Order: sequence, then structure tokens, then C-alpha cells
Amino acid sequence: MNSNDLTEKYYGYLEQFKELCFALIEGGQAYQAVLLSHELYRFLYPVEPYAGFKHHDPVPFMVDHAAKLNALARTLLETVHGYESDPARQSETTQSRLEIATSDLYSGLWAQFDKETLLVEARKLLERRLPSDLIETHIKGKRVLDMGCGSGRYSIALAALGAAEIVAIDYQAKAYARAAEHAKSLALPLSFQEADILELPFADKSFDFVFSNGVLHHTRDWKTALSEYGRVMKRSGYLYLYASGGFFWTTRAVLREVFARIPQAYAQSVLDMIGMPPNRFIFMDTWYVPVEGHLKRAELEGLMTELGLSFVQVPTQIPYDPGYGLDLGLPGAEAMWGEGEHRYLMER
Ligand SMILES: C[S@@+](CC[C@H](N)C(=O)[O-])C[C@H]1O[C@@H](n2cnc3c(N)ncnc32)[C@H](O)[C@@H]1O
Repeated sequence: MNSNDLTEKYYGYLEQFKELCFALIEGGQAYQAVLLSHELYRFLYPVEPYAGFKHHDPVPFMVDHAAKLNALARTLLETVHGYESDPARQSETTQSRLEIATSDLYSGLWAQFDKETLLVEARKLLERRLPSDLIETHIKGKRVLDMGCGSGRYSIALAALGAAEIVAIDYQAKAYARAAEHAKSLALPLSFQEADILELPFADKSFDFVFSNGVLHHTRDWKTALSEYGRVMKRSGYLYLYASGGFFWTTRAVLREVFARIPQAYAQSVLDMIGMPPNRFIFMDTWYVPVEGHLKRAELEGLMTELGLSFVQVPTQIPYDPGYGLDLGLPGAEAMWGEGEHRYLMER
């Protein structure tokens, strides 16, 4: 079978997978839908700890895997009888509540971060991700904005990397409350503030360096957020955003439809019962965040150019990043990971 046929086959199985999950949820077996989705999702990542594509071609593996999970779902539907009541459906999130719901979700997930994650791991991650000359010339001694700081883990890391002053903003203070305490006790040159990234309360070109990791695609309007990013950036910045295409991004979109029918606390308790560690929050993050945009490279780069920003892509450095398989040139990488991810260094 050629690779196009295999790809089409996967998308066919994925559609069936969604319908089978809906049937399981309606039949009182939502826990089975959580387990099956977990099983499908974990193999979408390029390398261990989530999968092992180093050793085999991912595309035929995924086709085979999806077929097996569908067969299992059918068996469960036929042989296992669920309990009477359906889990309550998630209430619809209205447009005006989107940011609050997003911030609530992340604040809950970040609460699982320990001190080590906030003070040590994030710094190590940034040192791997950012070229060392960039840290020397664009961060050390500079005034930096962390746009959508969440738990504040990277805000603290930016201070540790030598930024002279960091302003970190997010929608609600509860997201960064613990990081703010650490920053105070360690006397870091770091201040946190509640603000909307679609309307930044800062003058044009007021930050030497703007850092934004995984935020713009969770807003109602990533284009406005990007123009705000460009407006306050004086010299340079780092931007990470979700991409689109391939089994990886398409499956995420389908699983979000499945989990819209399963309450978050219920899905979390199933993952807890099978012993998933708290850092599996990346599953809950995708499944429950109210807005998850999958951006197309041409559209994103077109807008950067329009805004007068020059940019270069930064290669992924971490094995579980969806862009990693593409950077390694693994077989079937485009079918698996589409455009991978968007990581850029920007300059004015
Ligand atoms: C995926 S988290 C990323 C957090 C952090 N940058 C990191 O990498 O750990 C996305 C964050 O964006 C924030 N956010 C989303 N929309 C926002 C908005 N319009 N204004 C401010 N923050 C926003 C959310 O509250 C959440 O904390």
C-alpha cells in the first residue's frame, strides 16, 4: 500500500474512533473512551517516553494501532455494560468566558508543579531550546516581557539566565501566585501582573526581548496577539506556537471533540487510576483547553512579514516535541507531524 493510501486509511479509522468513543460515552463507559484516547494519543509523539518511533516506521504503525483500538472499542461496546447515568456534559463556554476558562484550566494544572520544576527544570529546558549566543546577546542585561507566563516557570528561568528586568503577565494572578512568592523570596528582578495579551498595557517598543511560549494559539484572536507582540518588541524575541496538519494535529482536534463530552474531573480520575504521573498534564491541556488554534506556517510567516518582523526558525531540541521527528528526518515525518511546530527567533 502506498503512503497516501495509508494516510487516508488512518483518517478513516480516526473518524470511526471518534464515533466509537461517542457510543462508549453514551453507553455509560466514558472511562473506556479516556483509556482508548490515552492509548492513541501517546503514540503520536516522536520518541520515548511516549513512543518508540526510532525503531519503526510510524505511519504503518499508527494505522495498525488505530485499527486495533477500534476493534477493542467494538468489543467493549458489545461485551461490557456501562452504568446507568451518562456523565454530565461540559457546559458550553461562551466567548466572553474563554480567557477565564483557559486561565482556570492552566492554573489548576500548574498547581501540580513542584519547586524543582519552577526553579530548576524550566531553566534547563530554556538552555536546551535557546541558542547560547542568543542568551548572551539578547537576554543578559535586557528588559524582557514574558507574554502569557502561566505558572511563571520561564519568567524565573529568564531571571536565572541574567535578564536585568522581567515583566511577566497572564490573565489571572492565581496562575503565577507560587512563582511570584519564589521571585520575592529570592529577590529576583521579576514582577508579575494581570493583563490581556490582546491589549498589552505597555508602550510601543518597551521591551528589548519578548518571550512567548505556547500562548497566542489559545486566544480568540492570535493575529491581534501577534501584532501586540510586535508592537512592544524593541529588538528581538522568541515565539513558540502550535502548528497544523499530520496525524498529530488532526488527532488532537478529534480527541477534543470526544472530550467535550466527558467532564474534566472524570477524565483526570481515570488517568490517576491507571497511575499516570501529574506531568501527563499535556493530555488534559489539549483535551480541555477552550481554544486551541493550529496555525499554518504560510499564514503565520505572512503576518510576521506584514508586521515588519524578521524571523528564523529554531530547530527543536527536545525529543518529545512534534517537530523533532521532522528535524531528524524520520520516515513518514510529514504524514505524522504535519508542519511540526512553530519556533521562531524574531528581530526588528
Ligand atoms: C499553555 S499556557 C503557557 C504558559 C507559559 N508560557 C509556559 O510555557 O509555561 C497558556 C497561558 O496563556 C494564558 N492566556 C491565554 N489567553 C490569554 C490572554 N488573552 N491574556 C493573557 N494570558 C492569556 C493562559 O492563562 C495560560 O496561562
